[in-house]
Amino acid sequence: MRTINLNAQIKVYERREELPAELADLLKQADDAARNAYCPYSHFQVGAALQLANGEVFKGSNQENAAFPSGLCAERTALYYAVANHPDTAIRRLAVVAVNPANPLTEPIVPCGNCRQSLLEYEHKFGQNIEIIMAAEHGPIYVANSVADLLPCSFTNDYL
Ligand code: THU
Repeated sequence: MRTINLNAQIKVYERREELPAELADLLKQADDAARNAYCPYSHFQVGAALQLANGEVFKGSNQENAAFPSGLCAERTALYYAVANHPDTAIRRLAVVAVNPANPLTEPIVPCGNCRQSLLEYEHKFGQNIEIIMAAEHGPIYVANSVADLLPCSFTNDYL
């Protein structure tokens, strides 16, 4: 018998003022995106801002639906818009933030499993890590160097 150790690091910044400027700027755009969330069922507003390698930024927010599974997370709304329109440009980073007016969050939101899997696909496609910045309105900010760090032991096209 042997064991496989899965190690990953997430950087924690206690305040937004501590973030490198380009990360703070992208996070601010994610804040803006959260205002466009359509979330009449959960009232949980999520905003994402995705920056391509050429510097261009695409924003997304969660879009819910009366038929629950038909809705989509903020991260994938931004991701699929970006790659559908710029299929040949790598993704540099993505910032995601959540606002929950009923129960203000003090810990960062982290992308759900579906979003991690979707983002990982493009890390592989472009052969370039995607930095993930995670935040709430207040409290610390998490920064992961890559999607692979958030989804260790993952299923990829290497298996196909
Ligand atoms: N949501 C996101 O947009 N991103 C995540 O990473 C987690 C959850 C959305 C989906 C749904 O509209 C609401 O938050 C509550 O789950």
